[in-house]
Parts: sequence; C-alpha cells; structure tokens
Amino acid sequence: MVRPSRPSRLVPLIAAVLIATAAGEGAVAPAGAVAAAAFSRPLVIPRVLTGSSITLTAKLADVQILPGRKTRMWTYNGTFPGPTIRRPTGQTTTVTLVNDLPAAAGELTLHNHGNHSAAESDGQPDDFLAAPGGGTVTYTYTGTEAGGNERGALQWYHDHRMDATGRNVWMGLAGMYIIDDPADPQTLPKGEFDVPLLVADRSFDANNQLAYRFNGAGVTGNRILVNGVPQPYFTVGDRRYRFRILNASNSRSYDFALGGGQAFVQIGTESGLLPAPVKRSHILLGPAERADVVVDFAGRLGQRIVLQNLAADGSLRQVMQFRVARDLTDSSSVPAKLRPLPPLEATSAVTRTFEFGRNRFTGAWTINDQVFDPDRIDASPRLGATETWIFTNKSGSSHIVHLHAVDQQLVSRNGVAARPYERMKESWNLGIGETIVLKLRFTDNLGTFVFHCHILEHEDAAMMAQLEVVP
Ligand code: C2O
Ligand code: CU
Ligand code: CU
Repeated sequence: MVRPSRPSRLVPLIAAVLIATAAGEGAVAPAGAVAAAAFSRPLVIPRVLTGSSITLTAKLADVQILPGRKTRMWTYNGTFPGPTIRRPTGQTTTVTLVNDLPAAAGELTLHNHGNHSAAESDGQPDDFLAAPGGGTVTYTYTGTEAGGNERGALQWYHDHRMDATGRNVWMGLAGMYIIDDPADPQTLPKGEFDVPLLVADRSFDANNQLAYRFNGAGVTGNRILVNGVPQPYFTVGDRRYRFRILNASNSRSYDFALGGGQAFVQIGTESGLLPAPVKRSHILLGPAERADVVVDFAGRLGQRIVLQNLAADGSLRQVMQFRVARDLTDSSSVPAKLRPLPPLEATSAVTRTFEFGRNRFTGAWTINDQVFDPDRIDASPRLGATETWIFTNKSGSSHIVHLHAVDQQLVSRNGVAARPYERMKESWNLGIGETIVLKLRFTDNLGTFVFHCHILEHEDAAMMAQLEVVP
C-alpha cells in the first residue's frame, strides 16, 4: 500500500478552504449576531435509519443552517448531522460509504466511534479508503463484544481521514449511532422522550458558508449548533426526558449545566450505562465525549430552561432552550441500579505509559515525544490480557485521550479514585498536568487501531499513535 509522505499534510486543507468558500471569501460573522437569533428555531431530530444494510453517501448539499442563504456542506445523505443509525445489539449491520464528494475532498474513511470493529471495518485513517468519484467501502459491525452482545450506547460516526479529519468533520461528515440493548433497564424514558443531541460549533462567512482555517491549536466556531440548528428551542412535556449529549465539536469543550440550578441525573457515558445514576450540577464534555442524562421537567409547566455552557461567556454560553409547554403523564423511572461494569482482573499483565506533550523545538503535538507514523506500532497488547495504561499531560493545553476498539475503566485521576460518573469510558479529558490510570482488556479483534487526541486539529497534526492487538 502506498502511504503519502508527511509533508503532504497541508495540501488537502488548502483545497478544502477553496471549496468551502467557493461562494466568496467573506468575513466571519461577529458572534454578537448569534444572540439575537437564539432560541428562535425548533430543534430538529435527525432522520433515523434502522435497517441492517445502510448506505451513507458523502455528497455536497445545501443545508439551511442560518436564516437566508443555505450553507454548502459535505454531508452524509444530504443532511447535517447525517442520519442517526439505530440498531439492536447483537445484530450485524453493514454500512456502505459512497464517496460522491468533489475530487478535491480526497479519499474518505468512516469510523464508528465507540464500536469494537474489526481492523478493516474501523475506518482506518490511511487504509481501506473510499476514492473520490463514487468509490465505496463497506464496513461490517457485528453488534457483539467480549463474546456477548455489545452494550447499549450512544456512539457516533465520522470521517477519519489522516491529516484531514478536522476539515472533513467541520464540513459536516458526522452523525450519531445508537445501540439499543434489552439488557438495559426498560423503564428509562424512550421513544420521543429519548432525544439525541449532537452539539457542535461552527463559524460562517458573510455568505453563510463554512470557513475552515486549519489551526494546530484547535479550530473553534462562533455559533453553537444542536443537531445542526443554531441554539434551538425544544418544546417538552412536564415529565422525564433522556438526552444523549454528544460533543461533536472539533476542539471546543462544554461545561453543560441547566439554568435555574436543576441537576442532571447522569445515567451513562460513551461506554453505556453507569452502575448507578449520579446527580451532577454540571458536566464537562470534551470533543467526542458523551453524557447520557435524564432531566425531569415535572412541576415546571410554563417554564423555559436554558441548557448552558459554563465554559463560555456571552451568547456562546447558551446552547439551547427547553420550553415546558405540554402537560403529560410519566410512567418512566430511573432505577437505582442501572448496569454493572464488565469485570476486569485485579492484576494487569503490562503497564504502559503515554505522555501527551509538545516538542519544545518544533511545537509539534506528540505522544511519548513522537508524531504519528502509520508504519510504526506503538503498543502491542495481547488479546484478552488485562493491561494498565497511564496517560499524562505534560503540555500546556488540554487533550482528549481516545482509544479505538476497547472500553477503558478508570482506576484513578491524579491519584484520586475514579468518580462514579467516569468509571468506564473511551474518550477522556486530560487537563494540563493531569494523569489518568486506565485498565483495559482488548476482547474482540486482532490488528492495528489508532489512539489519539480527539481535538481534531491535534489529531491531524499527528498527535496519534497506533496499537496492534496480537494473539
Ligand atoms: Cu472519534 Cu479515532 O475517533
Ligand atoms: Cu473512535
Ligand atoms: Cu490534544
């Protein structure tokens, strides 16, 4: 297989900007314009696909994001976000990616984030690619893990092309993927009361077009979109709702809180349900992290409650608004016990340490002082062996540690035993100076998988490494 050499990195990024701004290079709209429009449009729930054989066609589409001129986006099947894939656990699903984007977008690859996929179905950054001009790749997801059914969870799918993931996701290549699991308590809010929320920031030029300028520190936008709608409102009833919140932003973190001081009841993470629900007044989510929460609007008929981002000021602080306007009865409940964690052996065979850092001379983001090399294997865990992986952050900014193909259990963060809401995950906020100790066991697939920072521009700037699961 021919691999592009590293210096080619910036070429596709420049091409993207030309496509993105084909309508004219305009000034980025001031953030202040957002405030006037906040909560003026209803939340949209992305279309749901439930079949065992799904096609996602990457193509240009003009999407109504802002008032006025439509935004030309890179979409899956014509919408942003792409359709939500919703599948029962234990059943095989094939997803065929078709690349109908303009040739300048280059080759594409689709990663089912959170899934335990075979290596050739994982959406490798530089292998098994869908060529421009209608190239296809079919990914097979078995719906199983560790010899049983996969745990129910909110996963998501997104492009993962080496050096260009940030651009490709920014342009619109992302969607949600829900695994429904009958082993999860069935009394949780369901149907129209189980609402996935994909939160992502974007900036637009004066012509309402997406402007992507690669910035190795991370690209942020000046508008907050939920399911593709800028700061929407959502009309709810006076009952419990389950919100599955995904931070699909390239680099922005959110510290979510409910206006009026109401707490969330967190029931799950990226890796499915928690052992027990946890009350939280605010929830910090870095890129790719998810929180599965229940919010009870009982007794709040007539109220308007804002979902806030405490990490931002001004108009960026307002994510969306819940309008409690329907009088409904509620037969849902949140059981005191949700789902035990899968057992891991007390002792681990191997301990590995990975330092997220920055090269003092070149400024490059590094893992153990190295940038990504697709021809290098950085760790070779044995299938079925329990290992300890330690991540430290010695750089001057936060990172999001994400491992493919495995869920991880937190032993400690900065020497303190794992909090109940982050016992098992697969994407971890690693703040400046922090150390997390994880335990993990690869149970499903041999072969190579990447792990990386999920701030997409750090990833594209090669803050990524490769593991190979061996027999
Ligand atoms: Cu969300 Cu390597 O992926
Ligand atoms: Cu992933
Ligand atoms: Cu990073």
